Formats: sequence, structure tokens, C-alpha cells
Amino acid sequence: MEQYIIKGGTPLVGEVEIGGAKNAALAILAAAVMTDETVTIDNLPDVNDINVLLEAISGIGASVQRVDRHTVRINGSCIGDLSIEYDYIKKIRASYYLLGALLGKYHKAEVALPGGCNIGSRPIDQHLKGFRALGAEIDIEHGKISAEAERLVGKHIYFDVVSVGATINVMMAAAMAEGQTIMENVAKEPHVVDVANFLNSMGANIKGAGTDVIRIKGVPRLHKTEYSIIPDQIEAGTFMFAAAATKGDVTVLNVIPKHLEATTAKLLEIGCEIEEFDDAVRVVAKGRLKSTHVKTLPYPGYPTDMQPQIGVTLALCEGTSVITESIFENRFKYLDELARMGAVVKIEGNSATIEGVEKFSGARISAPDLRAGAALVIAGLATDGITIIDDIVYIQRGYERFEEKLRSLGGVIERVSSEKEIQKFKLKVS
Ligand code: UD1
Repeated sequence: MEQYIIKGGTPLVGEVEIGGAKNAALAILAAAVMTDETVTIDNLPDVNDINVLLEAISGIGASVQRVDRHTVRINGSCIGDLSIEYDYIKKIRASYYLLGALLGKYHKAEVALPGGCNIGSRPIDQHLKGFRALGAEIDIEHGKISAEAERLVGKHIYFDVVSVGATINVMMAAAMAEGQTIMENVAKEPHVVDVANFLNSMGANIKGAGTDVIRIKGVPRLHKTEYSIIPDQIEAGTFMFAAAATKGDVTVLNVIPKHLEATTAKLLEIGCEIEEFDDAVRVVAKGRLKSTHVKTLPYPGYPTDMQPQIGVTLALCEGTSVITESIFENRFKYLDELARMGAVVKIEGNSATIEGVEKFSGARISAPDLRAGAALVIAGLATDGITIIDDIVYIQRGYERFEEKLRSLGGVIERVSSEKEIQKFKLKVS
């Protein structure tokens, strides 16, 4: 089992290149099988979640050719199996995007039912409501969801909750349904827009992505395309908070500053200086930062995937901060780990009250999930002593070359897998 070992206390300084958006890429890769022609996708992040989904896609018979680390060619003409195995769904929930993609193309698909996960129970009733509205019969049996439709026909669908996954999954199926679909109360996240743009580049007719209402005129077939995925706003935001927590000066490159507005607004509120460029944002933190309140909301609100990163930063700010998590019920586990490093926190229901401390002290802690793990790395970088983080496999699901990028900013962090390597690191930094 690998761990991160960190000797913190050095401000992060420099420039860091941000990769393609993992959450956009997961949906776009699934949508790529919807044509029988070859699709080329670029700016793909080279992270574990993406590689597992590519295995699932080749597992159903599609051809997957990795051109280079960040480019893949997919051809869905030879798909022979419309069933996605539990092994994939267990490793990567978003394999369920293949349900919408295959249902749209073949009118039939079967996917193992995803369970809950570390950040809470995650129902998929809205996905199924959308598929049913389009005319699919849905059966849930023996841990599998099977969806089948003689004809898929466009419909007016009003979602009960704003869901990124349901919006994307139903949009994919509706792209190839007969007639018009109107989807209301949909998610507006940048990756919803990216998936719509991708499908449109394949010949779909989708309008309104990025607003509350998406209108789709179904088309009988989609064609080849070459597409580049948008930058990852969560990876960018993670480095921005790493700059703030370590009192550093970091410029994130290859970003869309508009997508980062909720994050930059909070960084400004706590006292950071922000400079925006066309495709870069610089964050400078001088001295002790101030507390604030934050509530996670669907886009354009403050993202739940950036909640642990701000939480770690607020735990070092002067004063009392309150975080309200309104999307997932189980996203404060990292605060228990942070308390082991000296943070003062109180969790009640979906709120956490944080009394800022001047310093954390290094400890051995565990990454509870992907974003919480990245946030704990930030905590380690902001701590004078030595921090060891277990279970970093979660972090590798979504951050490409994380430790390398942090090292390029002056962070003292290494990936280790034995007690001997830990001792070697300690000797080196002492
Ligand atoms: C996606 C992101 C995840 C992010 C989340 C919220 C991917 C692969 N994952 O997850 O990183 O944290 O958006 O921005 O893109 N809900 C229902 N019924 C449904 C679907 C969702 O009640 O059918 C609820 C969920 O329990 C949650 C809320 O809706 O409370 C939002 O979830 P959703 O937007 O669907 O998240 P995901 O798409 O799973």
C-alpha cells in the first residue's frame, strides 16, 4: 500500500498546468461509443478512474486505442455486449453513463446497480425516471438495472432534484430518441455543457446546456468527431487552496477562470489576492487568512467537490467558520482526520463549525475519499512537521501526477510504500 509522506511548512510557489476535467471525461468517453465511426478525444486526464472506464468500454467490445497519455481513439462499431459488470461499477460509479449511451444507441443496456460510496448514499432514481419517460422499461433484479425500449421517444421531463449524473445520462439517451425532449431543472455544471458540446460535435442537436432547461431534437445517428476536454475546475481549485493554506503564490495554467468563480470568491473573502488572466488564475496569500461561511450548492454555487479543500484552509484561518454541506451527507470524515492534526471542529448534521488554529501538527492520517484525500495533502503541506497519509489510492483516482506537480511548486512530498522509505525520507529532510 502506498502512502504520501510530507514535510510541510514551505509556501507553494510557481506555476502549475491543469489537466482535462475527469468528470467531463467520464461522460464523454461513454458517449463516444454512441457512433459506429471513430472518435478522437484529447486532453484526457491520465488518472485511475479514466483508465478503469476505458477498460469497461473495451470490455463490451469497443475498440480503444490510447494514442498517447492524454489522447484516445474509440470506435463503438463492434460492441457485442450491452452489459456492464459489477467489477467496473464497484470501482468507478460513473460507468453507469454507459447505460444512457447504450440505451440511446441500441435501445437496450444492462448495468450493475451502483451502491453507496464513501461520501454518502447515492440514489439514481432521477436517471431511471428520465429513461422511463423516454419509453424504456426498467427492471432492477439480482443487483442489476436493465433498460430496454422498443422505441425511445422524446418527452418533457422535470427532474425532482438537480443531478449532474441524471442530467448527463438522460441527455445522452435523448440525443438519439425520436422527436423532442425538454429536460427541466437540470444541472448546469461546466461538464454538463462539455458533454452537450461533445454530442453536438457528433451531430446531436442539444440546446440550452448550462441553463435550467435543455432542449434536444433526437437524431437517428451520430458521427465521428475530434474533441478536446475542458480543464478540470476541481484540480485547479485544489491547487488554489493549496496556495492559500501554505501562504504561497501559485498560478494555475490552462483553466477557464469563469468556471472557478465560486472558488475565487471564497479565496478573496478569506483575504487572498487573486489575479485573473485569459486562461490562468494567480492566488497569493500573505499572512494569516480570515474565517468565512460556505454552503455547497449545485453550479454556479460553491462545489461540494471543493468542500474539504476549503475546510482544511479555514481550519488555519483566524476566527470561526461554518461549512454547510447540502449535496452529500457524509462529506466531513476528513475533519476527524484533521482533528488528529490539531484542528478544532464540531460537526452537527450537515454543518461543521471550525475554530481556526495557528498551526497543525504532523500526524499519520488516512484519506477517506478522493477530494478529502487531496485536502489532507494540503493540510500536510501547511504543517511544519511530518505527515503520513494512508489510502492514497483514492487520490490517484482523480489527480494526475499530484505529488510531482506539488514538488514543482516546492512542496516536499513523496510517494512511499515501506517503513524503510519513510525512514529514508525522514533522514533526508531532518
Ligand atoms: C457528480 C460528480 C461528483 C460531484 C457531484 C455534485 C461525476 C462523476 N461526479 O456526481 O464528483 O460531487 O456531481 O456536483 O461527475 N440524487 C438523487 N437522485 C438521483 C441522482 C442524484 O437524489 O437520481 C441526489 C444525490 O444524492 C445528491 C444530489 O442529487 O444529493 C446531487 O447528486 P449528483 O449531481 O447526481 O451527483 P453525481 O452525478 O453522482
